[in-house]
Amino acid sequence: SRSATTDVYEMRMREADVEIVKGLTSRVRTFDGTFPGPTIKACHGRAVEVRQYNDLTVNAAVHLHGGEVHSEHDGLPMDVIEPGGNRTYHYPNKQRAASLWYHDHAHHLEAENVYKGLHGLYLISDAEEKKLPLPRGAFDVPLVIRDARVESDGTLRYTRPSDCPHMLVNGKERPYFKVAARKYRLRLYNACANRYIRLRLADGTPFTQIASDGGLLERPVQRDELLMLGGERVEVVVDFSRYAVGQSVVLENTGALPTERPEVLRFDIDRRSTDNSEVPARLSTLPPVPRGTVERDFELRTFPAMTINGVSYDPDRVDVATTVGSSEIWTIRNVEAPPAAPPDFHLYHSFHTHLTYFRVLERNGKPAGVQDSGLKDTVCLGPGETVKIAMTWGPYAGQYLYHCHQLGHSSGGQMGRIDIN
Ligand code: C2O
Ligand code: CU
Repeated sequence: SRSATTDVYEMRMREADVEIVKGLTSRVRTFDGTFPGPTIKACHGRAVEVRQYNDLTVNAAVHLHGGEVHSEHDGLPMDVIEPGGNRTYHYPNKQRAASLWYHDHAHHLEAENVYKGLHGLYLISDAEEKKLPLPRGAFDVPLVIRDARVESDGTLRYTRPSDCPHMLVNGKERPYFKVAARKYRLRLYNACANRYIRLRLADGTPFTQIASDGGLLERPVQRDELLMLGGERVEVVVDFSRYAVGQSVVLENTGALPTERPEVLRFDIDRRSTDNSEVPARLSTLPPVPRGTVERDFELRTFPAMTINGVSYDPDRVDVATTVGSSEIWTIRNVEAPPAAPPDFHLYHSFHTHLTYFRVLERNGKPAGVQDSGLKDTVCLGPGETVKIAMTWGPYAGQYLYHCHQLGHSSGGQMGRIDIN
């Protein structure tokens, strides 16, 4: 429903039976019966309220990933909705257009809850973006990519990523997508609980990246391959008019294990189309890179336990105390040694901050490259890698989090508490 300033939604978190792999029925945890959950379309300047009912038998906390929201609506791990309960989350939408998502964040449970289906999209648009001639409507398509293990009786089993051979796009295993011979905007999400993906078009056609976690880049960049860790978003434009009607092109994951099929999705070009869309040479203007005066260091470890700076998450311990408006430079280190061979998913970390977007300044001592462009809320750290990021905390005060977005790691304690005063 709508009021003058707010769009109001209601959802029930509940179990449902869905078809993920053709011919099998899987019991999943859903927002409102759909897998993934319903997509919320929000506009800059118009608030959204979502009343969430928990009809599951486990705790849940709903976090809006990428959302600039007040602490009491952030879905903190201890701030849960118990089974049978409900609460209303308020999202101000005072931020720029971006592709967000919402997902569970209940203490120790988020990995399994998200894996079992508690994730959905939240897309914010604004006037600046609407003015651009980018592909829109039916030609602006989110693709939520995640792995799964579906047993032969349909059971969706939560297990380590090297035992999750089914790649799902928007809740279906390796689907195909009929496209017109024209440009499409694809909003790619890595919603895997515990693994990275490396996406490319099988024929080597490059992607034109237009946006990252925090919305539009200043200028489009060409990318042959997209390395994405859990939580990251990359938006690209692909021009299918380079193919003839009747041809197909496969989106593949070159980060698949040797035992897995690399196909993620097949595009079938099935018709001609007119196309007035364009990718302008200048997309947007980003806020200036914060000039950090406060420096902090973080070290992420997988062994012997999931830690940041040697400690696991304790909701009663303040790990970082800062203030609204504080400009900071954070150096984040993944201290694991490069492995001898894959599967090495557990040696990667995906560093995520709540509330505030950041810029990546450096990767391994060199200026950040295209992989790290734009406003980010999640950054990939391979074994042995170091990144430097800069942010200005705000716009709200309160208790927030930073953590690894490999959700088995955050559930295992690779998470810290930041209090902003
Ligand atoms: Cu998408 Cu705290 O996470
Ligand atoms: Cu991690």
